[in-house]
Parts: sequence; structure tokens; C-alpha cells
Amino acid sequence: MTEGAEDRAEHRIAELVELIRYHDQLYHTDDVPEIPDADYDLLKRELLELEATHPELTRPDSPTQTVGADPSTLFEPVEHRVPMMSLDNAFDRDELSAWADRAKRRLAAEDFGGLVCELKFDGLAVSLRYEDGRLVQAATRGNGRVGEDITANVLTLRTVPHRLPAEAPQVLEVRGEVYMPLAAFDALNAHQDAEGKPRYANPRNTAAGSLRQKDPSITATRGLSMWCYSVGEVQGGPEVATHSATLEYLDSLGLPVNPETAAVDSVDAAWQFVERCETMRHDLPYEIDGAVIKVDRLDLQQELGSTSRAPRWAVAYKLPPEEQTTGLLDIHVSIGSKGKATPFAVLEPVFVGGSTVAMATLHNEDQVREKDVRPGDTVVVRKAGDVIPEVLRPVLADRPSGLPEWVFPEVCPCPHQQPLTRQGGDAAHYCRFSRCPEQLRGWIEHFAARNALDIEHLGEQRVRLFIDLGFITDVSDIYALPYDRIRELEGFGELSVANLADAIEASKQQPLARLLVGLNIRHLGDTTCELLADDLGSLDRIMGASVEELADIDGIGPIIAESVHEFFQSDVNQEIIQRLPKELREAKSSDPDAEAESLPQTLEGMTIVVTGGLEGYTRDGVGAAIKARGGKSPGGVSSKTTALVVGENPGASKLDKAEKLGVPILNEAQFQRLIETGELP
Ligand code: IVH
Repeated sequence: MTEGAEDRAEHRIAELVELIRYHDQLYHTDDVPEIPDADYDLLKRELLELEATHPELTRPDSPTQTVGADPSTLFEPVEHRVPMMSLDNAFDRDELSAWADRAKRRLAAEDFGGLVCELKFDGLAVSLRYEDGRLVQAATRGNGRVGEDITANVLTLRTVPHRLPAEAPQVLEVRGEVYMPLAAFDALNAHQDAEGKPRYANPRNTAAGSLRQKDPSITATRGLSMWCYSVGEVQGGPEVATHSATLEYLDSLGLPVNPETAAVDSVDAAWQFVERCETMRHDLPYEIDGAVIKVDRLDLQQELGSTSRAPRWAVAYKLPPEEQTTGLLDIHVSIGSKGKATPFAVLEPVFVGGSTVAMATLHNEDQVREKDVRPGDTVVVRKAGDVIPEVLRPVLADRPSGLPEWVFPEVCPCPHQQPLTRQGGDAAHYCRFSRCPEQLRGWIEHFAARNALDIEHLGEQRVRLFIDLGFITDVSDIYALPYDRIRELEGFGELSVANLADAIEASKQQPLARLLVGLNIRHLGDTTCELLADDLGSLDRIMGASVEELADIDGIGPIIAESVHEFFQSDVNQEIIQRLPKELREAKSSDPDAEAESLPQTLEGMTIVVTGGLEGYTRDGVGAAIKARGGKSPGGVSSKTTALVVGENPGASKLDKAEKLGVPILNEAQFQRLIETGELP
């Protein structure tokens, strides 16, 4: 970052802090606001964005740091009077026995007697606070000490009572898991299908996204439910001696308590419950990811106490991610819009981890070789983090003799069959043919996408058709479509051609940043396109800028600068740009109001870790994109991580850790949607 840019940011931050304070005073104290709320919000947002890009310049007295006073804060913080703890894990029988032995050794008594076995529900922990029998607050776990107030959203859950019977204690904090039943999840995806929208990946992440809705009426449509499994603060409740009695008591108050709970008297019997879970998981109408074993007597729970993270009186047995075997029918290669050739497994469809899997990426040539999977093999597949399907290994015992190794194809799968070349240290192959229809298809779809030129009615199938018919050979052809001929094609009525033409016409008014996104320049993401457009203001200036000038822009590093320069140096690209409509070539960066609006704080309060390369971003760029939307993007996964985004060649340790901690794992498309909507898939 240049010193000038840092100075400018510091100066503007000081200005904004002063302005916001001035308007706060007028609004709150003097009651004579000078500017509309929307303008005030813009000032606040600009400050938030600057602070996100320059955390070191955030002043402790900044109006953005004043808890509770920020009208745009999505969810207010809630301090848990009794911390919401996590659980230690046991992954096999020995670890379960070891936990029991450790616990017994800490106790004065010989044994801890009974254990309670519960299902481990795969949702998110929530605390409900009832005062005088009325539900007054619901909060997420957050970091265990401070969560978020989601009362309005939880009030829409049909299984959660708003009022308890008259005998309810003065204060009762109930803890449990909010989850999305499988039927609700399937119905939601059926609705997505019907609307032509992307499907949600799994019930747990969807439940989390549904609870974080700004608008509770959306939460209400999601069919969420809850199981209660413990209590926090209680004042004026009855004396109970055991955990099982607590559950019975909660049940008697009309709170949802899961019926699959079992009281047992030995670790052996607890293990039997765990084993039953393995089969039960397939029959339950909701997802579980294990079992929780708890010491029943509350006095012994007290004696055992907790570590800083988890109680010693309970342990979670985590079921392994579901694995299945299936046939590897073939390995194909797909070509990305920037020419990258990615091998993927074509599988005999198999139901695993809650959905049917028929394809799985194999990332690159080295991964295929390392895993030694060959077309014709029986392979083991699973869902990494229960989201991304993954081919783990071949079942060697089932390999037909003489099955040949798979060899990376030498040429691109498109009819031009141009060579696929592997570059330097990068394990990836590329097709470098600029007129490759496979790449072209990706590029046109990218150009027409919502975050680029946003051309409705130009979907995947039409793009494919127009390319096949030779109507489109590069993006500029979109603006010179032969409508007379299109009208004669099957499935194109007068109205649908008019709609398409209108949508294309409207796209000419898109601002410069959108055009830059559409040009599909390597390493450039939405945020960097906005930075370029804002700083240089016109396509002409961007095209004429030197690498040094580009790299001088705040937020643009040398890799992006190189890439932008290289793109505009190319004769082919220059010709394409010359053929674009004049309105687009002269597109301006959008007005400041619209610009601020275009970066809503969708990731506020979230911590997103990225591993591996993403197509649309550089490593720095993705961090900037997260921060610009209010999120944090540290280098490592922890229990505070909201989600791990996995790109090409991800780090195994981050993936492992995320899986162990149950952190949702997203692919690039899901990440893109998270950025846009703030909703986890
Ligand atoms: S008891 C102090 N019981 O698992 C212990 N937790 O990995 C509090 N969970 O944060 C937890 N089912 O969100 C408990 N039957 C169950 C559970 C359960 C799911 C979740 C809970 C917790 C996480 C820890």
C-alpha cells in the first residue's frame, strides 16, 4: 500500500468520525437532524469499509466501535451469564473409555453411576431466556461468552413456546440446538429448483443462515425446529438432582426435548447407544453428527467442573463423515472460463451425506496420480465437511486386473482439440486457445452473470446454442445478435426475443466496474474491479495505465496490476473492446451513493478463512472482499471461524481442523452466494 493512500484513508477516517459525531448529536440529543437517515447510513458505511481495509487506523473512540448504538448493527450482542461451552470429542471406544476413566479418577466417590446418552444434533446452539414464563430473549452461542440476539427470529419457530405454564421459574435459561428438519430442507430445495435458483448444500448451514436473517418473516418460512438439552441460569426453579430429571422437567414445561435419550448405567451400555446412532442416523427425520454422553448426577457434574472450553462431565462422540463406495465410470476434464482444465470423476450416482453425488472434482493431474484412481475402479467417496463431494481412494481389492492408469488428455475436449499444457510449478493444465468454445461459453456466462453485466434471459442453454450456431464468437457479439434468425429458432417467441433484446440493451447502462468484472481478467474479483473503476474512472484510462500506475492503486497488488496490463495489451482483447457498444466503452464508475450501496455488510460478525486458490480472486483480494463486507479473514481456522472457503489445492490442515470443529466448508460458488446474501448455504 502506498503512503499516500494510507494518509488519505487516515484523513478521511478523521473527517468521517467528526461528521458522524456531529450528526449523532443533532439526532439523539438535539432532535434536529440535518440529513436524512439514508445519508447518515452512507457515512457510517464508508467509515466501516475504510476501517475494514485499514484496521490499524480504527480508533477506539470511533462511532463504529460503540456497542449497541449502531442502528445498522444486525444483531445486538448478548452476554451469557452462564457461559455456553463446547464439548470435548471422542472418536472411538477407547477414547470414550479414557474419558470415563479420567472422570472417575477426579471424583471422591468410586463411580459416577448413571450416564445419559443423547443424540448430537447437527444444528446450532441457542440459548432461550424465559422470565416469569415469557420468552424474552434468544441468543446464539457466539464465542461462548457473548452471542447475538436473535429473539425476533426464534419467536417464529413453531416448536418453541412463547410462554411457559404458570409454575415456570422466575428465570429459566434453556439451551438447545436449532436445526432444520430434512423435510423442511428438501422442501426449500424443491422451491429453489422451481425458481431456477441454486440449491442449499446441507441442513445445518441452511439452519444457521435462516436464523441470521435480517427479516424474521423469512426465518418463519424455513420450518426450523429445536431440541432442548440443558439449562443455563435458573432462579426459582424446583430442586433437581440429575440431568435426566432436568430434561423431564423441561419436557413438562412444554419445551421440545428429544425422545431418543437413554439413561444407562455403564460405559459399555453408552457405547451400545453410540453404535445404534450409526444406523439410526439414516432413519431420523433430522441430521445428527454423533452422540453426547453426560454424567447424570448434577452434584457429580459440579464436582467434575469444566476446563476453559468444555465440561469434564460430558463428551461428544463424533460419527465419522459418511463414506460410500461407488463405480468410477470415467474421468473427464472441464475447461474453466480462463482456460483451466480440471479433471473430475464421473461416478455411478450414489447417496452420501444427505444427497446424491454423481460427480466430484479431482482438482488436477497430481491429485489423480496421488490417489491412484482409474476409470473402472470402485472408489470410496464422501462429502468433505458434508458439503463438497470427494473421491478418497480406490478399493484396490476390487480393481480389475490390468486396469490402465488414467492419463491427462493432451488436447482440449472442444472440437478444435487444441493442446492442454501444464505450466511450470503449477499442477494445473490450461487450454490457451483464445477461441476455445468451452472457454468462450464460460466467459459469456460470466459476462452475463448477475455480478457482471446482469443480462437476464441469456442463460447457460442459450449461450451454448448461440455459440454452436456461430452467433457468438466473443462477448462483443452479444450486442450484435441476429434477432431475425433467432426469431425463427424453436422455443423463441416474439416476446422472449423482445425480452432478451431489452435485457441486452439495458446492460449497456451498467457501470464500469461491472464491465471490468465481465471482461473476466485473471485474478480480478468484484472488489478489485470496483477499486480500479473508482480510481481510474474510465476504461480508456485503465487501458492506458502502466503496471506501476495500476499497482499504485490502494488494494491493487503487482500480480493484479500485471494481469490487467497484460489483458489490455492483447490485440485480440483490444479488438473485442472496440466492438463493444459505445455506452459500455464509455461506462463511468457508478455514483458514490450506488457504490456504497453495492457493498452491503453481508459478512458482518463473520470470520471467513480461505484456503487454496479461488478463480475470481487473488489471495489478497479475497481478504479485502471479505473485510469490505464487514467480515474478518484470519489465516487459521478456530472455533470462532464461521466458514472455511476451499479453493484449488487447499491446505489439508485447515480442512482437517474445520472438519474436527464442525466449521461449515464452502466452495467458491457457495462463498460467492454468502458474499451476496450473507446467508450460509
Ligand atoms: S450439551 C456444556 N447436548 O454440540 C455442554 N450439546 O460440540 C453443552 N450439541 O455447542 C452442550 N447436541 O451445539 C449438548 N445433546 C446435546 C447436543 C449438543 C448437539 C452441540 C451443541 C454444542 C456442540 C459441542
